[in-house]
Amino acid sequence: MIGRLNHVAIAVKDLAASTALYRDTLGARVSQPLPQPEHGVTVVFVELPNTKIELLEPLGADSPIAKFLERNADGGIHHICYEVDDILAARDRLKEAGARVLGTGEPRIGAHGKPVLFLHPKDFCGTLVELEQA
Ligand code: CO
Repeated sequence: MIGRLNHVAIAVKDLAASTALYRDTLGARVSQPLPQPEHGVTVVFVELPNTKIELLEPLGADSPIAKFLERNADGGIHHICYEVDDILAARDRLKEAGARVLGTGEPRIGAHGKPVLFLHPKDFCGTLVELEQA
């Protein structure tokens, strides 16, 4: 059911320093910072040949990644995103299998303008999983 790895999201405290690390030390192609107030993050996209890394810095008072950074002072992998062909069919299949879909269970428009859902980390090997409509 799941397809390509769309991205790995890494929560960071200092977006400028993390961007410089990926650009200068790792030699990757990086985007300009993109504030996404509706998601409570500022994002830098790191473009790799086969997938993307998203560096997420908290934006605003109740950013969903602020608590994560309280627990992980150096930052860390926040979630991974798999593409699915049909997000509603994927959701229904997962719910039937007992997996917990976060929020209302209805897809929201994610960072790339496509419908996304998040799955409870306790149901997926301790990893927050995002599904994105391919
Ligand atoms: Co994501």
